[in-house]
Amino acid sequence: MHHAPPPRAIAITGASSGIGAALARRLAGPGSSLALIGRDAVRLERVAGECRSRGASCRVGRFDVRDTGPLSSFLDSFDREQPIDTFISNAGILDGRHANQVVEGGDAARRVLEINLLAAVDAVNAVLPGMRRRGRGGIVLVASLAALVPLPDAPAYSASKAGLLSYGLALRDALVGENIKVVVACPGYVSTAMADVHIGSRPGEISADAAAALILRGLGRDQPVIGFPTGPFWVTRFSLLVPEFLRRRGMSGPRFHVDRAAAARD
Ligand SMILES: NC(=O)c1ccc[n+]([C@@H]2O[C@H](COP(=O)([O-])OP(=O)(O)OC[C@H]3O[C@@H](n4cnc5c(N)ncnc54)[C@H](OP(=O)(O)O)[C@@H]3O)[C@@H](O)[C@H]2O)c1
Repeated sequence: MHHAPPPRAIAITGASSGIGAALARRLAGPGSSLALIGRDAVRLERVAGECRSRGASCRVGRFDVRDTGPLSSFLDSFDREQPIDTFISNAGILDGRHANQVVEGGDAARRVLEINLLAAVDAVNAVLPGMRRRGRGGIVLVASLAALVPLPDAPAYSASKAGLLSYGLALRDALVGENIKVVVACPGYVSTAMADVHIGSRPGEISADAAAALILRGLGRDQPVIGFPTGPFWVTRFSLLVPEFLRRRGMSGPRFHVDRAAAARD
C-alpha cells in the first residue's frame, strides 16, 4: 500500500479543542508548520504553545469559519509562506433537539449547516487553487457517522455531515489525476466538549487523541472514507440500503437531546 510522506505545512480549523487540537498535537514536530484556526483565543494559544514545545512553528488564526473573506486571506498568506500540503476542515458544532422540544429550531438548523457544511466548502475553495497550482495536496474533511445514519434528534447536523461526505467524495473524484487527495473522516462518539453537549448514551466513545490517530492513519493510507469505530461504521454504511421500516426500527433505540446552554456557548 502506498503511504504518503508525513504532512509538513498544515492548516486546521477547529484546532482550539477536541479532535482538532489532538490532530494539531500529533502533527506538531520539528520542521512542521501549523496554522491553527478557531474562535477561542485562550484555548488556541494553549494548543499553539503545546505544538511549539514539540518543535513546530505555529500561526494562530482567530476566526469564525463563517467569515469567509478574512479566513481566506489568512489561509492565502499562510500558503504563501508555507505552501499548505494538508488542509483539515474540522470545525463543527452539534445542535439539534433540546430538552422538551419536538425538533430543533430553524435558527439552530441554519447555524449548523452554515458552520459544518458551507464554511467547510468555502475554506476548501480557499486552499484548493494553491494545491492545484503546485499539483499536490491533501484535504481532510471531518464529517461524522451521522453522515451515514440520519439522527432523528439532529436533522440539520445529519444533513451537514452527509453533505460534507458527499462533497468530499465527489471532490476526490473531480481531482483525480491532480495529485490532491481528499479524504472524509466519519468518527463515532469522541470524548470532547461536543460530547458534553450530547445528553444521552454515547456507545463506543473514544478519546480525541485516539480519533486523531485513526484520522491520520487513514490520511496516510489515502482511505477515501475513514470511519470508526469499525463495527458501527459498517453497520451505518449499510443502514441506508435496508428497507426504511427496518432502518427506522434500528434508530428507535437510545435517543438524545442537546444541552441548550452548552450548545449556545460561542
Ligand atoms: N465529538 C464527537 O463525538 C464527534 C463525532 C463525530 C464527528 N465529530 C466532528 O468532529 C469535529 C470536531 O469536533 P469535536 O468533537 O472536537 O468538538 P469540540 O471540542 O467542540 O471542537 C470543535 C472545534 O470547532 C471549532 N468551531 C466551532 N464552531 C466554529 C466556528 N463558527 N468558527 C471557527 N471554529 C469553530 C471550535 O473552536 P472554538 O471553540 O475556538 O470556537 C473547536 O475548536 C466536528 O466537526 C464534529 O462535528 C465529533
